[in-house]
Amino acid sequence: MIRPLFISGLVSTLTLGSFAFAQDPAPEEGYGWAEKNSVIGSEFMISAANPVAVQAGYDILEKGGTAADAMIAVQLVLNLVEPQSSGIGGGAFMLYWDASTGDLVTFDARETAPASATPERFLDENGEKIPFVPSATGGQSVGVPGILRLMEISHNLYGKLPWSDLFSSAIDTAENGFEVSPRMANSLQSTMSRNFPLDVFPEAKEYFFNQDGSPLKAGFLLKNPEFANTLRVLADRGADAFYTGPIAEDIVAAVAATSSVENNITLQDMADYRVKIRPAVCADYRGYDVCGMGPPTSGGLTVGQILGMLDNFDVKSMGWSPEFAHTYSEAAKLAYADRSLYMADSDYVEVPIKGLLDKSYLADRAKLIDQEKASEKRKAGEPPYQESALNLAPSQNPGRPGTSHIVILDRYGNALSMTTTIETFFGSRVFVRGFLLNNELTDFDRAPKDGDRLVANRVEGGKRPRSSMSPTIVMKDGKPYFLVGSPGGSRIINYVAKTIIAVLDWDMDPQDAIETGHFLHRNGSTLDVEQGTSAESFTDALTAKGHEVSARDLNSGLHAILIKDGQMIGAADPRREGVAMGR
Ligand code: GLY
Repeated sequence: MIRPLFISGLVSTLTLGSFAFAQDPAPEEGYGWAEKNSVIGSEFMISAANPVAVQAGYDILEKGGTAADAMIAVQLVLNLVEPQSSGIGGGAFMLYWDASTGDLVTFDARETAPASATPERFLDENGEKIPFVPSATGGQSVGVPGILRLMEISHNLYGKLPWSDLFSSAIDTAENGFEVSPRMANSLQSTMSRNFPLDVFPEAKEYFFNQDGSPLKAGFLLKNPEFANTLRVLADRGADAFYTGPIAEDIVAAVAATSSVENNITLQDMADYRVKIRPAVCADYRGYDVCGMGPPTSGGLTVGQILGMLDNFDVKSMGWSPEFAHTYSEAAKLAYADRSLYMADSDYVEVPIKGLLDKSYLADRAKLIDQEKASEKRKAGEPPYQESALNLAPSQNPGRPGTSHIVILDRYGNALSMTTTIETFFGSRVFVRGFLLNNELTDFDRAPKDGDRLVANRVEGGKRPRSSMSPTIVMKDGKPYFLVGSPGGSRIINYVAKTIIAVLDWDMDPQDAIETGHFLHRNGSTLDVEQGTSAESFTDALTAKGHEVSARDLNSGLHAILIKDGQMIGAADPRREGVAMGR
């Protein structure tokens, strides 16, 4: 098992206090490293970001619920115990393997721009891009949430237990209270120390702060009766009670009251929201099908591109080494260059999905990799099957981390891998009916053009912002083999791709795979290595190849399940407070 070399207790976010969060890219909140082991089961398994939420999912699986049922229970409790990352005010991408039909289905429950939104949404009166914090704070950044419709469609298609039963744990937790976790407290503190305050609107201030104005501390018993009431309505009346009627009216009003623009979410936008079922994006890697979510996330395609290029190298022999870190990073640079130019909501922009994963295209791209020398910043390639995209300008949006990942296997053989988000930690800061609303619209490029060329990921009415979320199910012999995903903004892609390689190429246990130190490249100026892990010891060798290496906290939240030799092996990232539970 690869362990950090010199972790000593929590990595204090306060040490980063001078970082100007108003600038891009926003940093991630450090937390620490908790000792964790793989969990073995044979009946069912779940891994997610908080023990209270995982227990709620476990209870549903134990009662005979499906993976879809358990997801609903987990997501609702996460809304309370990990409000910085996800909730019913946000969106998600979900992969679901339906064992009864043998179908792998992908669900796009991404937040959606109001129909009236325009590309100039985040520009000031001089046509300049408004900085991130004022763009993200308030109703102008809120997209129509997708989670409730995703829960409804999942339950209609795959649920076994009554809908209202899936709300019980969350209602109890909201009513009777839960202890604020160390990570939640750490995130609350971070909002103050990083100049991205959460107490700007009175509703969130009242919920998340003490009367003296200080953020809640770990261990505080937090109750949310308003959310309990919201959940009761939804448990009784279903998702329609969220998208129409008084709850929708309150969302629309809260967005309008806190927004800096006129063209915000309307009741019609709420009522029109639809989950989209899209084809899975699968890449062939060493005989496995690595299946992910296609646009509007860049996750599935970019993970697939990195693996597709590395398929041309003997990664197994390289093992965990600076040589691998270099080759991997060079592949990531090439993939992120394509991501930046081509990937956005494919209902609005032509995304050459087939060409970007074309084996001979990726083999040609792989030939550009010099194993001795780091390249300059990469430009996008010219994949086959693309027509108009070369007229576009590359995206400048780094993406940010306010996200969570859930993996579930049930006793019926169904498998679920879902990444869920409210965008930046604590989203838009707009708090209504006991929950936060997302700031997902800042996942669009806030500047719609570079010179005369449009950016694919610009704001448009009804469009879904590009994501990096990479929920993945690796298929072996036509059946789920490895379920994985992570939060982490645009770093998600690197976290997921490297973990897949560790399991498939190096035959690592999923817990060990997650615990390998991170290194990553996003085709910016630096190759980032995870501070305090064995990845940091690669620094000299990587510098000698010409990389500018930066050691930093790389705070993934990987959750994974491997299905091997009749066992379900669950794993949770030691960098956050999640757990795996199964039997
Ligand atoms: N908001 C994080 C993502 O969608 O990638």
